[in-house]
Amino acid sequence: MRSLAFVNGKFSSLEEAKVSVEDRGFLFGDGIYDVIRVRNGRPYKLEKHLKRTFQCAKELEIPIPYSKDELLSIMTEIIRKSGIREAKLYLQITRGAYPRAHEFPQEVKPTFVLIVREYNGVDEVLIREGAKAITYPDIRWGRCDLKSLNLLPNVLARQKAVQMGAYEAIFHKGDGHITEGAITNVFIVKKGTVLTAPESREILSGVTRETVIKIAREKGIEVRERVFSLEELYNADEVFITGTTTDLLSVVEIDGKVIGKGKPGEISSSLYKALKEDQKNECNLQ
Ligand SMILES: Cc1ncc(COP(=O)(O)O)c(C=O)c1O
Repeated sequence: MRSLAFVNGKFSSLEEAKVSVEDRGFLFGDGIYDVIRVRNGRPYKLEKHLKRTFQCAKELEIPIPYSKDELLSIMTEIIRKSGIREAKLYLQITRGAYPRAHEFPQEVKPTFVLIVREYNGVDEVLIREGAKAITYPDIRWGRCDLKSLNLLPNVLARQKAVQMGAYEAIFHKGDGHITEGAITNVFIVKKGTVLTAPESREILSGVTRETVIKIAREKGIEVRERVFSLEELYNADEVFITGTTTDLLSVVEIDGKVIGKGKPGEISSSLYKALKEDQKNECNLQ
């Protein structure tokens, strides 16, 4: 079992994988990425991730050098070659390498990178007891719906979270409304209703967010996609966050304030179980 890379058509170890110092991903963050969970050697919700990647690439006019089917077979191949069953796949496509100038180069080939690494999910204790979060001003740009490489505000927010002993940083805008987390989407539960920010340019439309909304509705739980405030976040009965590497995690303390009963709530716990069940079914886990 070993981590592997696939760079511009070539499989190699991570140590041997190379891209140019003139790559526009490196110089400008001019590229897109995605992270896909692999369970039991099978990519989970791959179609949805690929759909988002192709949409982002189209918006930013970055041509993806492979069709969806070709991507699927490269991903299958890198997982097989690595021998890793529980993993995260990191996909990055940049506009390519070219002498530095802001405007798009006329003739440039995109740089395509895929990395597979072992990943076993969030710490069991956090899942059982719930996580802490902090809030952080949302200083990001106006197209958070695109999964671009420009993650400096997210990096700063998560660094602050770690310094404060928290798992996640939850972004709020100047008027106090909540957008999402630095690597997750945010949900609150109030009087049995689940609330999460609606799709817009202020949030990334998470694949896990969509899955959890669907699962909740199938269970007969009311889900409303609407803007909610910092005040509502602090006063929620339950708070949870969702993401590819996070799955669904209860948040039991925010900025030092206890949320609800201070432990994972009933709705969050049942949605967590249902999400794990969905992964099991789709990825053929025992
Ligand atoms: C800012 C942000 N929001 C939400 C998510 C969750 O998205 P997904 O469920 O597709 O992983 C991520 C994941 O990386 C993210 O970076």
